[in-house]
Amino acid sequence: MRTALTGIILAAVIACGSLANAADIAAGKAKAELCVGCHGENGISHIENTPSLAAQPDLFTQWQLVFFRAGARKNEQMQPIVEQLSNEDIRNLGAYYASLAPPKASKPDDDPELSRKGAQAAAGRRCASCHTDSYAGTKGVARVAGQREEYLVKALRDYKSGVRSGGAMATMANLAFSLSEEEIEALAHYLAHL
Ligand code: HEC
Ligand code: HEC
Repeated sequence: MRTALTGIILAAVIACGSLANAADIAAGKAKAELCVGCHGENGISHIENTPSLAAQPDLFTQWQLVFFRAGARKNEQMQPIVEQLSNEDIRNLGAYYASLAPPKASKPDDDPELSRKGAQAAAGRRCASCHTDSYAGTKGVARVAGQREEYLVKALRDYKSGVRSGGAMATMANLAFSLSEEEIEALAHYLAHL
């Protein structure tokens, strides 16, 4: 049911995108004034459980904003924000965040053994087959390289528990369902330090 809903929403977003005027990065930057307080200057978050948005693929950002606006993805902090966004704002914000430099892994890896386990789990689960070899993401698939570690843990737990169903045929929810807590922590540690 939720999968069907997100499918319809996605079809609508793609249709809007192809009919629309070109996105305006400068207008996206201006609108992003609303976002800086939580998602940080230049899209690099310094707040726990709040993701960095810098260098996310354009479509990923747009889809997540549409999911929040439609109520398919729920978050108390995002809800009042997305209510203020038009389709045009969403297109411009997608283009703006995609234009920014990606977050760097801030600290040196304090647990290389955990990263090794994460790399192994990622290879076994073929995470790169969708997220790309550099984990920079593409289209509706998120960038996960250099994302905040505790946010990656939260995201994977949210898919696993069904709090977040996700787009693209709910691939992530299906996949995360079989991840153990140990694998989630190792994967998050590995990806956050790329
Ligand atoms: C009051 C704080 C706050 C503000 C302001 C805010 N956000 Fe968020 N945003 C969040 C939090 C917290 C999450 C994580 C939600 C979750 O855990 O599911 C989030 C998630 C997102 C996501 C999903 C990213 C991902 O990696 O899954 C996008 C896209 C996003 N916000 C865009 C925006 C944009 C664009 C604006 C401004 C127009 C904005 N946000 C303003 C707190 C905020
Ligand atoms: C079949 C394709 C596919 C595979 C394989 C896949 N992903 Fe994803 N992933 C996606 C898509 C699509 C999204 C965006 C889903 C959404 O709309 O919430 C996503 C989102 C995510 C997110 C949320 C990021 C954010 O900023 O909100 C994380 C974390 C993630 N994937 C980690 C992984 C890990 C770890 C693996 C391997 C265990 C993996 N993915 C395998 C397609 C895939």
